[in-house]
Amino acid sequence: MVEQTGNIDALLQEERRFPPPEEFARKANIRDPGVYDEADRDFEGFWARFAEELHWFKKWDKVLEWDPPFVKWFVGGKTNVAYNCLDRHLGARRNKAALVWEGEPGDWKVYTYWDLHREVCKAANALKSLGVRKGDRVTIYLPMVPELAIAVLACARIGAPHSVVFGGFSIEALRDRINDSQAKVLITADGGYRRGNVLALKGNADASLEGAPTVEKVLVVRRTGTADDQMVAGRDVWWHDLVDAQSAKCDAEPMDAEDILYLLYTSGTTGKPKGIVHTTAGYMVGTYATAKWVFDLKEDDVYWCTADIGWVTGHSYIVYGPLANGATTVMYEGSPDYPDRDRFWAIVEKYGATICYTAPTAIRTFMRWGEEFPKRRDLSSLRLLGSVGEPINPEAWMWYWQNIGGGRCPVVDTWWQTETGQILIAPLPGITTLKPGSATRPFPGIQAEVVDEAGVPVGAGQGGYLVLQRPWPGMLRTIYGDPDRYVEQYWSRYPDTYFTADGCKRDEDGYFWLLGRVDDVINVSAHRISTMEVESALVDHEAVAEAASIGRSHDVKGQAVVAFVTLKESVPASDALVAELKQHVATKIGAIARPDDIFFTAELPKTRSQKIMRRLLRDVAEGRALGDTTTLADPAVVESLKAQYDDDE
Ligand code: PRX
Repeated sequence: MVEQTGNIDALLQEERRFPPPEEFARKANIRDPGVYDEADRDFEGFWARFAEELHWFKKWDKVLEWDPPFVKWFVGGKTNVAYNCLDRHLGARRNKAALVWEGEPGDWKVYTYWDLHREVCKAANALKSLGVRKGDRVTIYLPMVPELAIAVLACARIGAPHSVVFGGFSIEALRDRINDSQAKVLITADGGYRRGNVLALKGNADASLEGAPTVEKVLVVRRTGTADDQMVAGRDVWWHDLVDAQSAKCDAEPMDAEDILYLLYTSGTTGKPKGIVHTTAGYMVGTYATAKWVFDLKEDDVYWCTADIGWVTGHSYIVYGPLANGATTVMYEGSPDYPDRDRFWAIVEKYGATICYTAPTAIRTFMRWGEEFPKRRDLSSLRLLGSVGEPINPEAWMWYWQNIGGGRCPVVDTWWQTETGQILIAPLPGITTLKPGSATRPFPGIQAEVVDEAGVPVGAGQGGYLVLQRPWPGMLRTIYGDPDRYVEQYWSRYPDTYFTADGCKRDEDGYFWLLGRVDDVINVSAHRISTMEVESALVDHEAVAEAASIGRSHDVKGQAVVAFVTLKESVPASDALVAELKQHVATKIGAIARPDDIFFTAELPKTRSQKIMRRLLRDVAEGRALGDTTTLADPAVVESLKAQYDDDE
């Protein structure tokens, strides 16, 4: 069952309440609490009304076909997501800023809808010239440059599913993802800027392509000027050579509602990343609707989501959701502390951002840095704040509310997943009374429940598993190439019910309080890392016999990766080896998975049925079970520790 911690009891005693500020509520898009009941009475009709606001080449015949766990939305409809994000706005909004981009060195660029449409059409024609056809997969491995958003939309325009791989991922992680999706083209860059340094990407991309035979062409963006001598003749083409020469006219491909829009790889409980499949119409409607209602998007908003497009948050709420709404979306390349720790607030000030959507891990970092940095800047343009990626602790919520929002901006804590595609639990800021630390209520039309092992709803204040009992348009359709895993992972625990793998409690008002993952996924700085992935990276090192990894709570990152390692007999433990193993994990997976601590242990503590005793390891890592972890190297210590735990955990 879900672990119940003192922390959560503290959360439930959270007494502070924040009704929508009067001024905000008066102007909010959604002011009538009746929307919840209305959506419940006819959830298909609810979503269809949003769909009707969008453009269709052919209208759908049927809103929903639900053959659990397989779903189809807007059956028979033909549409194009890029058309809805661009062409639909070329009338009244053609001169409106669509994408406001700022590079880390301070360069910046504004694309109007007209500009963005032109660039996307050219990029789409460029992809076609490289042999990309409808249905071909394109892997995108780019820093946060405008070409990333353009490339994504260009793929959508021609019906080539994109697979964006976060620029911080390693050579092997990239290669695995290319191979799993059998991508035909890779789009990358020479490098990007991060904390004043050049983050080289082209070398990684080249290395990953050794062993990725499906890639025929590589389209390379020149950003840092660091790979001019690395172009492979016959395979590599510069973006500025190819794309700039294309025609700016490219019709959007009419896509079937259920054609794949994109794949996005995420960590599950095994070492192999899952290619989450999102399709066209449902995803478009789900992100459009939630962006509009949760962020209360207005015509003159300047909306900034600080995520990287390499993660689902960037897909749904930098690119698709905001642009489908005709909003102005801001994109920033670099780190929050370059050249100084007020960079985010300088961006808010410079562009007059009205909405800022970020992660608790960032907020906790800002808290640690202190109030002086936001105070340096004029943040009075802000009217709404958002949070995503992990549970937000009430202290961080309050800090955000006070120091960034000036006590006037609702904070929408939004719960969702790569798999859900769209926000599912979040306030409607003009209606919902906020409680710091709670994602509040399911979005209208969503049916969420907290249940026990047997699938029975638990009472108020009881911990349980968060499940979803009704399909929603943005949901994943399958795992790419592995439908069995899709069924097994999400739908096998309870009949016709989606299992989120998140622990949750509801309070007496029906508010949802998320408690973190209940599977072997570690949430580091709002990004998912599987314990298995870390473990397989470690045992890949020649010194390691066996490894186990867990998540330990961390003040800033939410969770930190901690690993327990048994070395091969002849190998002596040393600090140098610890450093080497940490680096090995970073090289195999990416810096985000680098363990904070590695402990050597005589053997891994296991139950009689040979399951690793993770609760014991967590207690050790949190300092609850052993003062001096070096004693783990003594087999007698491990034995006596084991004796204190249930053998069947
Ligand atoms: O554990 C939940 C946590 O992040 C997981 C999903 O991670 P990912 O697929 O990488 O997507 C992150 C961005 C949507 C969830 O299973 N999570 C996400 N948002 C919240 C959250 N936990 C608590 N509160 C949230 N607002």
